Amino acid sequence: MEQTNGGTAQAVAFYSGHPISAALVLTRLRAARGGLVGLRPEELWAHDQDHFGGLAANDTLAKLAGIGPGSRVADFCAGLGGPARYYAQVFGADVTGVELTPARVAGAAELSALVGLQDRVRVLQGDVTRAPLPDGAFDAVVSQEALLHVPDKAAALAEAFRVLRPGGRVVFSDWACHSPLPPDDADLMWQGMAAQTLQSLDGYRDLLTRAGFVELHIEDMTEAWGPILRERLRMYQAMRGEAAAAGTPPGDDAFHRSYVRFVELILARQLGGIRAEGVKPPA
Ligand SMILES: C[S@@+](CC[C@H](N)C(=O)[O-])C[C@H]1O[C@@H](n2cnc3c(N)ncnc32)[C@H](O)[C@@H]1O
Repeated sequence: MEQTNGGTAQAVAFYSGHPISAALVLTRLRAARGGLVGLRPEELWAHDQDHFGGLAANDTLAKLAGIGPGSRVADFCAGLGGPARYYAQVFGADVTGVELTPARVAGAAELSALVGLQDRVRVLQGDVTRAPLPDGAFDAVVSQEALLHVPDKAAALAEAFRVLRPGGRVVFSDWACHSPLPPDDADLMWQGMAAQTLQSLDGYRDLLTRAGFVELHIEDMTEAWGPILRERLRMYQAMRGEAAAAGTPPGDDAFHRSYVRFVELILARQLGGIRAEGVKPPA
């Protein structure tokens, strides 16, 4: 889908008012356990993952990216740091996230400190098209359901290539566009969820190749996403009232409307999902 480059302000506005917030996570945990003292990393897992497929998707990404004890991992578009803390806690990785939305950067720091992972997980404020990370410093770059917001995906993949060591792996999931969206739908996905410059599978293959990656593998996740997204729609519908009652961001009308249509477009295979892998050639 060729769509006007809308920049990054829409994504920041969207995620500043998104129902998945550190404030809602902490409200839930205070209510469930009477306070936050002694909070363990695994108590966050039901609440802090903002992608499709939950912890199983993290496990798959970690396996494909070769993440293990001591791996240096960059998480592009890290959100509240949920996946980053999981890679650190379960796989023993040292994780540096890059995240655009200030409220999420602050939320990630608060949650990581509460569970004692601040020395192995840090989420830096930044844009993945200009990642504030050194050259060649990471064994793996991962990202989940986020590049859909990035106008210049070629620049983000060039940054993934730059920060990886030779032989390092990039693995990410993202929306895909199987056939061009009618203008009304494209506009709804932009207004409601800041989605732009969506790629087909071939489009992503081309972008990864042009960034320099080899050993590409791109999996079509669309069938698997159908039931996951139906469930996620129900989750957001319930969360809207919960967040409003808690006084945390409930998401705006455009988001809730666009999500209904998003699920329809996935089920109709106009939109879909991919998981992509590539390797930076060994030196
Ligand atoms: C759906 S959330 C995914 C968060 C995280 N990957 C997860 O799985 O929990 C997408 C995230 O991408 C971030 N984002 C969007 N555009 C970005 C950019 N250009 N650079 C860095 N982060 C960005 C948003 O602020 C949001 O937190």
